[in-house]
Amino acid sequence: MTYRMILNQTGYFGRGALDNLVPELQRRGFKKALVVTDEGVAKSGVLAKLTDKLDAAEFPYAIFSDVVPNPPVENVQAGVKALHDEGADVLIGIGGGSPQDTAKAIGIIGANPEFSDVLSLEGVADTKKPAVPIIGVPTTAGTASETTINYVITDTKNKRKFVCVDEHDIPILAIVDPDLMDGMPRSLKVATGLDALTHAIEGFITPGAWELSDAVHEKAFRMIAQNLQKAADGDTDAVEKMAYASYIAGMGYSNVGLGLVHGMAHPLGGRYNAPHGVANGILLAPVLEYNKDYTGEKYRDIADAFGVEGAYDRPLEDVRNDAVAAVAELTRALGNPTKISEVGVTEAGLDDLAADALADVCTPGNPRQATLEDIRAIYASLL
Ligand SMILES: NC(=O)c1ccc[n+]([C@@H]2O[C@H](COP(=O)([O-])OP(=O)(O)OC[C@H]3O[C@@H](n4cnc5c(N)ncnc54)[C@H](O)[C@@H]3O)[C@@H](O)[C@H]2O)c1
Ligand SMILES: [Fe+2]
Repeated sequence: MTYRMILNQTGYFGRGALDNLVPELQRRGFKKALVVTDEGVAKSGVLAKLTDKLDAAEFPYAIFSDVVPNPPVENVQAGVKALHDEGADVLIGIGGGSPQDTAKAIGIIGANPEFSDVLSLEGVADTKKPAVPIIGVPTTAGTASETTINYVITDTKNKRKFVCVDEHDIPILAIVDPDLMDGMPRSLKVATGLDALTHAIEGFITPGAWELSDAVHEKAFRMIAQNLQKAADGDTDAVEKMAYASYIAGMGYSNVGLGLVHGMAHPLGGRYNAPHGVANGILLAPVLEYNKDYTGEKYRDIADAFGVEGAYDRPLEDVRNDAVAAVAELTRALGNPTKISEVGVTEAGLDDLAADALADVCTPGNPRQATLEDIRAIYASLL
C-alpha cells in the first residue's frame, strides 16, 4: 500500500499573514493578477484589505467579482474570458469556497483550453498541464479550498453540483489570515465550521485513512469541538483556531477523500441551492449514526474530543452512540437546521436527490457502502 500527499508549495498563517502576498507575487515574478471573488466579500470590506496591499505596491490587477455561492459553469466561463481579456498570469481566489473553487476551474481551463465546456472536468479529469498559478485566500473557515485538490461547480441545466479532483489545481500559495474572517455573520461561521467538522470526521473514518491523515483529522476535530461554538459567539481567538482547523482538515481530506455526508450534501446544493455547510450540518449526525458499526474504534476519539466521559473504557456501542449524540447536540446548539425540509425539500424530491447522491464522487469514500434505498431512507428521515 502506498499513500500520496499533495500540499501547497507555501502557506502563511496567522493575523497579518496577508502581508506576505505582495512579496510572494514579486518574488515569483508575476506581472498581473486576476482577483476572483464575490459581491459579499467585496461589500463586507474584506476584499479591500487585499486590494489595498496591491494598490500600495502598485502591483497590476483586475477584479472578477461575479462569483455566486454554489458557483455555476457560467461563472467559470466568464472568469476564463476575464483571465484572457486582462492578460493576467496569476489568479488570486479570495473568499469562501465558491470564489476559490471558481479560481481553480478558471486556472485549469486557462492552461487546458480543451476543457472549456467545464462539465468535462467532473471527477478526475485528464488535464495535461498545471493550472495558471493560483493563490488561495480564504475568508471563511470551512472548505479549505486553499489547500485541496478539489473544486465544486454547479451544472445549472441539470441542477447538479459536480466535484472535480485534479492535482493540477493545487494552489501554489495559501494565505490563511484570520483577520479576514472575524466579520463573518454568525450563520456563516456556523455553516462553514460545520463543513470543516464534516471534513475532519469523514476524512478520519474513510477507508483510505492512514496514520498521517488520522493525525491531522483528529487534531482538526478536537480543535473544532473546542472552538466552533466560541467562534460563533464572537470569540476572535476561537475564530483564529477555526481558520487553522479548517486548513489542517483540508490537508488530510484532500488526499484521502470524504464520504456520504458530502455525497448527500452536494445534491441539496445543486437542486435546492442549500449552503454547503448547512447541508453538511443537517446530514452529519444522521450519517454518523448510519456508519457507526463500520468504523472500528474511531468513534472513541470523536467522543473523547466532544468531552464524552470514559470514551476509551466504556463499551464501544455506548461510546459510538454518545459520539453521534454529541455531534447532533452541537449542531442543534449552534442553530443549524436539522431537517432537509428547512432547505425546501419535499417528499417529491427524494428520488432525484438519492440518485444524485449515489453518483456523487464523494459517496464511495464512505466506510459503509450505501445503496440507493439506504440514501433515500436517510433523506426521508430528515423531512
Ligand atoms: N474545494 C473544496 O475542496 C471544497 C470543499 C468543500 C466545499 N467546497 C465548496 O465551496 C462552496 C462553499 O464555500 P463557503 O461555505 O466557504 O461559502 P461561499 O464561498 O459560498 O460564501 C457564502 C457567502 O459568504 C460570504 N462571505 C464569505 N466570506 C465572508 C466574510 N469574511 N465576511 C462576510 N461574508 C463573507 C460570501 O460573499 C457569500 O455570500 C460550495 O460550493 C462547496 O461545494 C469546496
Ligand atoms: Fe465540504
